[in-house]
Amino acid sequence: MSKNFFVSTPIYYPSGKLHIGHTYTTTLADVMARYKKENGFDVFFLTGSDEHGQKIEQKAVEANMSAQEYVDGIVLTFKELWEKLNIDYDRFIRTTDEDHVKAVQKMFSLLLSKDLIYPSKYSGKYCISCEEFLTREQMDEDFIHNVCKNKAVDFEEETYMLRVSNFKDYLQELFATDFLEPANRKKEMLNNFINNDLEDLSVTRVSFKWGIEVLENPNHVIYVWLDALSNYITALGWGSNDESMLQKFWSHDSEVLQLVGKEITRFHSIYWPVMLKSLDLKAPDKLLSHGWILSKDTKMSKSLGNVIDPIELIEKYSSDALRFYIINNLPTDKDGNFTDELFIESFNTNLANNVGNLLSRVSNMIMKYFDGKLLETKIDESHFLVKLGNETIKEYQKLMDQYNMSEACQVILKLGQECNKFIEDTKPWALEKEQKIDDLNLVLSILQKNIMIISFLLKPILVNSYPLMVGQMGVDPKEVNFKNLESNNFNFNKIENKLVLFERIK
Ligand code: ME8
Ligand code: MG
Repeated sequence: MSKNFFVSTPIYYPSGKLHIGHTYTTTLADVMARYKKENGFDVFFLTGSDEHGQKIEQKAVEANMSAQEYVDGIVLTFKELWEKLNIDYDRFIRTTDEDHVKAVQKMFSLLLSKDLIYPSKYSGKYCISCEEFLTREQMDEDFIHNVCKNKAVDFEEETYMLRVSNFKDYLQELFATDFLEPANRKKEMLNNFINNDLEDLSVTRVSFKWGIEVLENPNHVIYVWLDALSNYITALGWGSNDESMLQKFWSHDSEVLQLVGKEITRFHSIYWPVMLKSLDLKAPDKLLSHGWILSKDTKMSKSLGNVIDPIELIEKYSSDALRFYIINNLPTDKDGNFTDELFIESFNTNLANNVGNLLSRVSNMIMKYFDGKLLETKIDESHFLVKLGNETIKEYQKLMDQYNMSEACQVILKLGQECNKFIEDTKPWALEKEQKIDDLNLVLSILQKNIMIISFLLKPILVNSYPLMVGQMGVDPKEVNFKNLESNNFNFNKIENKLVLFERIK
């Protein structure tokens, strides 16, 4: 496999400002993209906005604007958030982008010509907020949708259907692999949908206008999910005269990782692979379906309004602090919490007292005892802390390669704790008093080496702090990579100034 890596987030509805939940998925994707780049991959990181549909149309009417004006305004706030959070995407796709619209129409025509889409009628219950047809199990006795708590409406329309039911064998084969994580979500999908009479999916609507027109029948607009899911390949040029990016990033030459929240797993694990298969394309290598950020035990969501604004957190505490909390404190296999108290506690424990403290203690001692530059010395590779540092690099890479970012982060923090403990145990200030200069130099050299490791492994998360961290060891940040990290073969310059990073939040 050549080293190409594609990672995507869902494209979010511009029906309101984004909150910590969206920030969560997008930060996971960004950290993974940065990590893969450090490993020499060519990376394509895709995010964007899902702009069509009944809900957006209604919101625009309420705001007394055209739908296009309405989404244009909100999309600006998305981009502003990603910029403030150091999200380094390769494309921000909007489903109103002309190339996307053309490609979706082409896809529809192609599937229609292959008889994988056919005209029909559909009736059932529909959740406008989630733009989803619901089964009985997804609602309570009053037809309240169990995810967003909105009441489902009756739906009866003439519609085109996608022949999902033809793909039962394919889906069963796919679900026998570990393409969907976590594994328990697989069972849920198999039991509730795939093995339990797999139904065709309605893919057009006639009751609203804000969507991509069906060329063969302009009364219909393409239903949001066919439009939305296809973004992952239209963004790579599917159906255009240049499909080279698609070949490169969505083929057997590429590792494809898609991140989604668990409430849209059904669309991404069933309908999306069916669409891909219909187009002779592979399913994603990994669909990572993560848990929710809760607010008082319910999902934080735009429609419920129980949200935390990430911009406020960034302005108050920094983007690195937010990125760190997301990666370290919110493992993807569970639901998680976000409160100011938890956030501050994690910051103080991990960034201030552990990493920040280590960095300032060691750099201060190098300045005080060695005038900012340690003596050249050969570090003993069998020293327990040197071994631990080198093992940490391998363990971190193993976990990151499994997309287990929170455990990877914890492995780094563990090394930080051991280094702080090593300072207490070796008491460099006593070595200085006794004038054991070689011993003192060795202790600080070992610490310095481990700080280089800790800093570099945190680089995908702590985007702004990373250059300051290695800079405070006297090293040019551009010099460091996975190849020279273990050998510690850097140009150490004189450390000139004191620096307090990650000052405790009171
Ligand atoms: O579903 N906890 O858009 P959306 C964790 N347009 N993640 C959360 C979250 C929470 N409380 N709230 C939101 C849509 N998210 C469709 C997607 S994709 C082809 C179309 C994140 O604006 C999470 O990634 O409702 C979730 O799946 C997504 O935002 C839903 O965003
Ligand atoms: Mg939603």
